[in-house]
Amino acid sequence: MSDVPYREVTTSCNKSSDVVWHQASVSRIERCKNNGHKPVVLWFTGLSGSGKSTIANAVDKMLHDLNCHTYVLDGDNVRHGLNGDLNFTDTDRVENIRRVGEVAKLFVDAGLIVSTAFISPFIADREMVRGQLAEKEFIEVFIDTPLAICEQRDPKGLYKKARAGEIKHFTGIDSAYEAPTQAEIHVETAEKCVEECALQVISYLTQHSYLTSK
Ligand code: ADX
Repeated sequence: MSDVPYREVTTSCNKSSDVVWHQASVSRIERCKNNGHKPVVLWFTGLSGSGKSTIANAVDKMLHDLNCHTYVLDGDNVRHGLNGDLNFTDTDRVENIRRVGEVAKLFVDAGLIVSTAFISPFIADREMVRGQLAEKEFIEVFIDTPLAICEQRDPKGLYKKARAGEIKHFTGIDSAYEAPTQAEIHVETAEKCVEECALQVISYLTQHSYLTSK
């Protein structure tokens, strides 16, 4: 694995030049050895209702049972706190992903396998987060569920409200979703159960040696 240290933040536009980087005493390789696996971001992207959070949590449970150090950052949850000041305009969605990218980067630096479940509708933002991490530390997981199925499931009743014009800028209705074209993991959920989808992610991690520190 790389021992690229957590890099100085490049996305903050107002950083004072008097702020000096402090080097950490515990290296990433040392953390990795202790944890017994490599740190990585599993970046789940897909429409609302596609199953991102459900599959991310199923993956998280499997990894936890394998004694991995993990965490899930979930769009709805993060919008209750850290990003509670943001709404769903394009500008706020960009800021949402920028902040989550920074948090995910910290989790990777802490040696964790962090699953993020955000619609993250724009390719440029997802690539921006990828670009802030070392190679192989960002895995894009496309939860590919057709809009018609998401709308049929409508677990939170939000599509119904969006169709009725009660919610503006709803992804897939009156706000864009740019599907990944080269995601490392492409999960087509329509014909699969949650466990099968989660196992697809676990088998990618196993095949690419993420679940060992070597
Ligand atoms: S993102 O586009 O900025 O990445 P995020 O994943 O944080 O979105 O939040 C999406 C969740 O917010 C959805 O699952 C849904 O529950 C809720 N939500 C509320 N309003 C909207 C909206 N206008 N568009 C999409 N999701 C919305």
